Amino acid sequence: LHEKGILPESALHHFYGQSVRELFVMDEHERFSIVEKTQDAPEIELTLVDLQWLQVLAEGWSSPLHGFMRERQYLQCLHHGQIVDLKKKYYMGEGESCEESETSSLMESPINQSVPIVLPINNEQKAKLYINNIEKEQPSLVSNVRLVYNGKLVAVVSHPEVFPHRKQERVCRQFACNDPRHPGVKLIMESGDWCLGGDLHVLERVIYNDGLDEYRKTPMELRKIFADAGCDAVFAFQLRNPIHNGHALLMRETREQLLKRYKNPMLLLHPLGGWTKDDDVPLPVRIAQHKAVMEEGILDPKWTVLAIFPSPMCYAGPTEVQWHARARLAAGINAYIVGRDPAGIQDPETGDFLYDPTHGAKVLSMAPGLSNLEIVPFRVAAYDKKIGRMTFFDERRKEDFIFISGTKMREFARHGVQPPDGFMAPKAWNVLANYYEKMGMD
Ligand code: ADX
Repeated sequence: LHEKGILPESALHHFYGQSVRELFVMDEHERFSIVEKTQDAPEIELTLVDLQWLQVLAEGWSSPLHGFMRERQYLQCLHHGQIVDLKKKYYMGEGESCEESETSSLMESPINQSVPIVLPINNEQKAKLYINNIEKEQPSLVSNVRLVYNGKLVAVVSHPEVFPHRKQERVCRQFACNDPRHPGVKLIMESGDWCLGGDLHVLERVIYNDGLDEYRKTPMELRKIFADAGCDAVFAFQLRNPIHNGHALLMRETREQLLKRYKNPMLLLHPLGGWTKDDDVPLPVRIAQHKAVMEEGILDPKWTVLAIFPSPMCYAGPTEVQWHARARLAAGINAYIVGRDPAGIQDPETGDFLYDPTHGAKVLSMAPGLSNLEIVPFRVAAYDKKIGRMTFFDERRKEDFIFISGTKMREFARHGVQPPDGFMAPKAWNVLANYYEKMGMD
């Protein structure tokens, strides 16, 4: 791909000298033979969130992972926040045999991985994965598992491994919180007690037929788009909320900064497309809102590429923002924007910020295993009543500012209240107002 010009050399270097690892079975014969060979393999039904993580893995956002984490990578992630190797097992003793070549499991250097990507299974599902073995006393694990979504075969896991999920321990590490009212914690606590790891072979592209598939670009496709546009630096913006002029300020400022060093820096406007909590604005509404922002010229379509990031949300604050930045390395980005309280959420007990709103940017700026990704941190932006627009908050004249949080914005929209002029492009605001108006009538 590098030779064909799809992978620019600079992009390759930015990704640790490793190319993006897609987990699709490209060859038709191979696909046929995998399906044939696994006719009798046990099936695990995926949830929608499992499918979204599978898509993340398959498209290479979590390169160089070979599939859902094995226990070894799960422990590296939870305890080191990084993937240090891709070995299959932890060998307790000298005498134990190693069934894979060591070279395929070594990495040039560790890569940041702060959020686990695992496939939880329950006791019943686990029981299906073992067969009685006459020679051995214990039942043995099957050699392939079929993964099914809505009755359709989507992938096969080879060399599977089953290990304890240890959910309480996981959520305490991942979220520094185990309150089941936290939606990310809840999702995990309701999932299975075991995890199924292994090598993933994905049979075809994951699509949703929701009218938005054209925005679901893989890292390789994005690299090609940027290369074709003659772009010499890509800066990414992760978001899960509608774009207000404060967000736009961050993106425009970053471009100005980069223009001092690059000729054609382009923005990857990358809304998260996987699972979000119930009261977040749904993806189709957000995409329509983002398009309106571009149509209104708040972000220039000449240097903006709008695409969907397939990952589900966790709401794990500073832990998660590292995942958000690291995943985009696969798309060949050079710089990543981070502002106030990224991936943040309210404390379910007090209603206050669960994570210190400044920690996300601080933690990300010194995170290990992020290659030479440039982190562009920003102070909080708020609405300045004096000048009637969004600008960076100034503590010395704090009475001039108002903060319009996501919750407040939704409240405005729900009650038909117009936000102050200069908060959001009017056409983009109408998209939100119409959505909430319609919701109110249902
Ligand atoms: S997130 O979960 O994707 O981080 P959101 O869509 O709210 O949530 O934020 C997207 C990005 O904009 C994050 O980097 C966040 O820190 C930043 N951000 C959001 N609101 C503000 C603000 N008022 N001032 C500065 N940065 C902000």
